[in-house]
Amino acid sequence: MDLATRYLGLPLSNPFVIASSGLTSSTEGIVRCAKAGAGAVILKSLFEEQVLSEADQLVASDGHFVHPEAADYLKRQGQEGAVEKALELIREAKAAVSIPVIASLHCTSAGAWLDFARRMEKAGADALELNVHVLTSDTRLTGEQMEKLHFDIATEVRRAVRIPVALKLGSQHSGLANLLSRLSRTGIQGMTLFNRSFSPDFDIEKLELTAGSRLSTAEEHGLTLRWISIASGLAGSDLAASTGVHDSKTAIKMLLAGATTVQLASALYLNGTGLLRVMLADLEAWMERHGFERLSDFRGKLRQAASSNPAAYERVQFLRLSEGTQPKSIG
Ligand SMILES: Cc1cc2nc3c(=O)[nH]c(=O)nc-3n(C[C@H](O)[C@H](O)[C@H](O)COP(=O)(O)O)c2cc1C
Repeated sequence: MDLATRYLGLPLSNPFVIASSGLTSSTEGIVRCAKAGAGAVILKSLFEEQVLSEADQLVASDGHFVHPEAADYLKRQGQEGAVEKALELIREAKAAVSIPVIASLHCTSAGAWLDFARRMEKAGADALELNVHVLTSDTRLTGEQMEKLHFDIATEVRRAVRIPVALKLGSQHSGLANLLSRLSRTGIQGMTLFNRSFSPDFDIEKLELTAGSRLSTAEEHGLTLRWISIASGLAGSDLAASTGVHDSKTAIKMLLAGATTVQLASALYLNGTGLLRVMLADLEAWMERHGFERLSDFRGKLRQAASSNPAAYERVQFLRLSEGTQPKSIG
């Protein structure tokens, strides 16, 4: 079986990519992922806010520096801390593994991080994934402005670097199909669907805010599967499936939907990186059973555009599906 593929123009030995996370925040972690058989790694993001707030803390911690130029100098020092660490990780990872190393930037605005993108390219990153995070709770921002931010980021970074660029998006957008279709034509090479938002929770005894689970569950893959199926017919770029892929069956579904690569994070946190070997063996066995020799033999076979029943991919209401689903009686 030939599991090789190209993602963002880069040759990968297989379509399983380690998602940006703590799994890829150290050279040891990256080497572990490569040894386990990953096709590529996406490094832990350099957060725009992290960079800027470190700088702010430094300025705030030293009251002597009230002169704006001195504060400016300190801001640069703060940025250097976080950026230098991220650049060092890229250099070390490139020296330690032979699989593609994709750097990641968490962006909330256009412009501020362009310089970081250029420096990541110079440090040897094979590609960049931009995790675009827009606060939809900001009442000052209209949907149009939020979309524009994605276009600004995509076009500015394309101009700033020569390495391939992928945009990682959240799922909360109106007009998502239109957005994905237009974004994929800005010159970016890929889109990752979707980032998983942090969800808060409540402790109802302590009456406190708590953090929801950092890890996804297998049940969360449905939204990703639907949108990879829809987007693969309309996007002019590669698609990476992220969120809720916990086993080989779900990974195969994402490929059938048209994903170029499948990203994994939570499943590896829960089961260890050894799960990758199992998933690769399962994929090969499934391909053999179905007479597929390479990924292109079946990739996108079940995408919406190839379906005789495209409406089924978009049905969001339960309609007749609730028939036969009876509530359990209590007591
Ligand atoms: C501990 C942890 C740290 C993460 N850090 C990042 C990050 O720095 N940048 C990013 O784009 N995504 C980050 N993610 C999100 C993952 O890349 C991924 O999109 C998400 O977990 C959904 O995929 P999964 O269901 O395979 O976990 C993180 C996820 C986890 C669990």
